Amino acid sequence: MTGGTRGAKSGTTTRAKAAAAARGAGGRPLVVTDPHALRAALDELRRKGRSIAFVPTMGALHEGHLELVRHARAVAGVVVVSIFVNPTQFGPHEDLARYPRDLDGDVRLLATVPADFVLFPPVESVYPPGHATTVHVAGLGDGLCGPHRPGHFDGVATVVAKLFSMVGPCTAVFGRKDFQQLQVIRRMAADLDLPVRVVGRPTVREPDGLAMSSRNRYLSPGDRLRATALVEGLRAAAAAFGSGERDPAAIEQTIRERLAGRVDRIDYVFVGDPGTLQPWPGAVPPGRTAVAAIAAFVGTTRLIDNVELGAETI
Ligand code: PAF
Repeated sequence: MTGGTRGAKSGTTTRAKAAAAARGAGGRPLVVTDPHALRAALDELRRKGRSIAFVPTMGALHEGHLELVRHARAVAGVVVVSIFVNPTQFGPHEDLARYPRDLDGDVRLLATVPADFVLFPPVESVYPPGHATTVHVAGLGDGLCGPHRPGHFDGVATVVAKLFSMVGPCTAVFGRKDFQQLQVIRRMAADLDLPVRVVGRPTVREPDGLAMSSRNRYLSPGDRLRATALVEGLRAAAAAFGSGERDPAAIEQTIRERLAGRVDRIDYVFVGDPGTLQPWPGAVPPGRTAVAAIAAFVGTTRLIDNVELGAETI
């Protein structure tokens, strides 16, 4: 027992030393803009037996992202975070131009975890002239956000596949707040035989329950108050499920009642199979969990949130 503990500690120390050696001055992560240079540095670390965990992000980091990075830190010797506002996952009328960008602030936050490398590639190195390949995950991307954000999940699957190739991680860590994205990426990694373990981590929430999101900073103080309608809807759904309600339509109605008059537009309220993201023809089958998911606008800000009923507390 004691020997095991000592062994684990010395393994952790060796990993920590290796990671610290990879980081830049002052414990800040090394910011690398050239994916090939990063790949070469990581190949070298892999040859020395280091495992790599990866957290893909679009920056504007908050505590939710830091929790993903902490998990990455706990499971691997080297932690890579990408910051890339991926243009192919934004529709023509979406918020690509105004998406918050703050590399210095993000790097400062990542130094506190700490991460070892930040991949910050220019758009041309991710999508060079002549780029012609798109990854499409059929089925999982078609419902929920799919019809409201045409092409979004193709953009996500394509960039994540490319980022996986650039980094070559053993483990990649994503938040469950983007539950549909997580399922799309899991399917993509399995279907393409990518040698990476895709981990989904619980949604991190503000004290009043609002799911953390880079887009929350768009909310005016009044909108911020109204935005809690989403978590209140999901809590009502969890309470109904906990009391034995298994009719998806009834649970959806409970959620809609909590959103009514508080949000400006509902894109969808969905209760269905968390694995396939399809509705069931009738009641939730016995012994199964269900995902309850919402997308709604508060002011001009589109918010999403979800809970897996029967598996998560909220
Ligand atoms: O969730 C995000 O921040 C993005 O969709 C991702 C996974 C980094 C791909 O651009």
